Formats: sequence, structure tokens, C-alpha cells
Amino acid sequence: NNNVDSPASHSLDLKHQSKSAEESFHKLEGHDELNEQMRMIDLSESDLNLLRRVKPSVEQNIDYITDQIYNSVLGVDKLEAIILEHSSIERLKTTLREHIIEIFDGKVDEEYIAKRLKIANIHKRVGLEPKWYLSSFQNLQNVFIQVIYKETHDDNARLQIVQTVTKLLNLEQQLVLE
Ligand code: HEM
Repeated sequence: NNNVDSPASHSLDLKHQSKSAEESFHKLEGHDELNEQMRMIDLSESDLNLLRRVKPSVEQNIDYITDQIYNSVLGVDKLEAIILEHSSIERLKTTLREHIIEIFDGKVDEEYIAKRLKIANIHKRVGLEPKWYLSSFQNLQNVFIQVIYKETHDDNARLQIVQTVTKLLNLEQQLVLE
């Protein structure tokens, strides 16, 4: 496999990605329950590697991704009001853009967890209810899947990347909504 550093494309050869979950699932020292959560969704080191390989494609499409999220959020009056009261659309777009790209660093460590706790607190403070948070995650997932289909041309790569990305989105929701 000589495509490790290339962006997601038809040439991504993912055949050697599947190791046994037992040997490669992601663990964090001192986080027993979180480790069980990650094992339950089968989040492995190869998922984290795959994220890094997909990152360039996400960066190329980041404006489209953030615009889609913001158009949907601003379509809800209540959410627009929260944003205008506590922040601004431009500021949040920048924040979200950085946040999304960071997911594709494939780093799930202490800093990652601490940041999700902070995000949870900020959203609680501005009065964002979990149902809206979950709705925008679905939106994010819709856009990601669309972008993955655009950037890849073989079924195996598509399936693996979609699975990996949805695992990460799910983990993020588990942490933020805890
Ligand atoms: C702040 C992510 C959905 C409103 C933030 C921050 C992040 C973030 C990373 C910055 C935290 C920090 O300063 O360290 C997300 C993600 C979402 C989401 C990943 C879902 C996919 C929403 C929605 C609203 C919203 C639906 C609608 C009202 C805000 C506001 C702040 C914030 C008002 C405070 C910004 C500030 O202090 O300037 N969000 N967010 N977020 N978010 Fe969200």
C-alpha cells in the first residue's frame, strides 16, 4: 500500500485496513468506561489512521461543509437567535471549521476529551438543547457522506470511510451529551 499519504480517492487501497478489533481497538489510560464505549462502537487504531488519510479531502471541501451546516442552523429561528445573542455567524463558522478539520487529526486523547467537555458546557450555557445539537450532527453526517461519495470511487473505500466517520461523530455525541 503506497497511498498512505494521499487524499481519499479511487486509488485508496483499504484492503489491508481490517485487523482484529482485539489487537487494534483504541484505548486511553485511566478511562475504563470510555474505553468500553469505544470498543462498543469498534473504534480501532485503523479508523484513526484512515481519518488522517481522508483529512486533505475534508480540508478541500471545508467551506462547503460549514456552509451547509450553517444554512440549516440558521433556518431555525430559535437557533439563529442563540447565535446572534452569544456569538456571531462568522465567528462560529471559523470555530466549526477548525473543529471539523481537527476531528480528522485522528487524535483521541486527554486533550480531545477535555475539549468536548468544554464544548458541552458552552452549549449548555447558551441554552442549546440536545435535540438541536443532535439535529446538526445528523446534518454534518449528511454532508460528510455526500463529500465522501464525491471524493471516492470504489465501494470498499466508501463503506470504510463512511463507517469510520460515523463512529467519530457518534463518539463526539457520546462525550458531549454525557
Ligand atoms: C460554540 C461546535 C452546534 C451554537 C462552539 C464551539 C465548538 C462548537 C467547537 C467552540 C467551543 C470553544 O470555544 O472552545 C459545535 C458542533 C455542533 C454545534 C460540532 C454540531 C454539529 C451548534 C448549534 C448551535 C451552536 C446547532 C445553535 C445555536 C454555539 C454557540 C457557541 C458555540 C452560540 C458559543 C460561541 C462563542 O463563544 O463565540 N460550538 N456546535 N452550536 N456553539 Fe456550537
